[in-house]
Amino acid sequence: MRIIAISNQKGGCGKTTTAINLAASISLQEKRVLLIDCDPQSHATMGLNINPSDLEKSMYHVMTHKENESLGIEDILISIKDGFDLAPSSVILSAIEQELSGVDGREDRLLQAIQTIKQSYDYIIIDCPPSIGLLCFNALRACEEVIIPIDMSLFSLRGVAKLLEIIILLKEKLGHDVKSRALITMYDSRTRYSKLVLEKVKEEFEKDVFETVIRYNIRLRETVDYGLPIGDYDKNAIGNLDYGDLAEEVIHSGTVDVQGKNALDVAHGILNKTEEYIDATAKLPLHKNPIPDTGFSPHSLRSSYTEMVETIAADPTGSIPEGNDEIE
Ligand SMILES: Nc1ncnc2c1ncn2[C@@H]1O[C@H](COP(=O)(O)OP(=O)(O)O)[C@@H](O)[C@H]1O
Ligand SMILES: [Mg+2]
Repeated sequence: MRIIAISNQKGGCGKTTTAINLAASISLQEKRVLLIDCDPQSHATMGLNINPSDLEKSMYHVMTHKENESLGIEDILISIKDGFDLAPSSVILSAIEQELSGVDGREDRLLQAIQTIKQSYDYIIIDCPPSIGLLCFNALRACEEVIIPIDMSLFSLRGVAKLLEIIILLKEKLGHDVKSRALITMYDSRTRYSKLVLEKVKEEFEKDVFETVIRYNIRLRETVDYGLPIGDYDKNAIGNLDYGDLAEEVIHSGTVDVQGKNALDVAHGILNKTEEYIDATAKLPLHKNPIPDTGFSPHSLRSSYTEMVETIAADPTGSIPEGNDEIE
């Protein structure tokens, strides 16, 4: 059984698209897959044609133990198709940070919830929100692997650096190992910029990036309106082929560390490369003019993630700093 979170602090980089279509593609390989929607925006839930406002129970109820202490993920599951279940989200999940503030073990709620259904699945895929906070932290605590979609923008890489920082801290402070790999999304081979960035990312990240590249494909955008995984909307679409390849790569890469290095070294390596890359990119003539980002600096990468892990490590009952580093 493998638990894979799809995470990047940047919004719009392809997390939900990857979560839905990777889950659907893996399930076609005779594997039992659960997709957990951990984003209050509920895009994965809506992308599978479920209206969150029709739901009585969602991940919110499971994680807050609201209505009923014993409510488990199994009580909220929706069967999407054979071998593919969804644990839906709803907008109220956004209240969790505040509601669980100061509550012991709040960062382990997802990990605990998964225990009861682990045996029923071969893969659990978690779609993370585009912000650093309790939900993302719960996902990272619960998973063993993280896929980091990169849509080839500077902001995306900045999100990567922050994510890796917490992965490193999770290992150093809490002994929790998370293997991380980058996935290039929305690749457009027609643009020179895309090609250049792809080359650079592959060169820098070496094996810590999937061989499979998800190309820009308008069908992936369209299919959301139909609430279908891409394979059920247009099985010949490039997007379906790419996610099929990704599923194969994920399945065959197994749980072993592809690099033969330990996860911590890998995360450190990617983080260093990312920072170098951001530094180098920031110096490109392209960015001679001020970047219209608020306060971007490659050196301001220590985030509330860092604070969050350090606080928990130092005092497990201490309060998690408010973390709302959303980039979009
Ligand atoms: N490979 C792709 N080609 C074209 N559009 C894409 C692709 N991947 C994602 N999109 C579109 O980009 C937008 C953001 O993607 P999404 O998966 O929702 O990102 P995130 O979950 O990171 O916010 C959506 O409209 C989605 O349909
Ligand atoms: Mg999303």
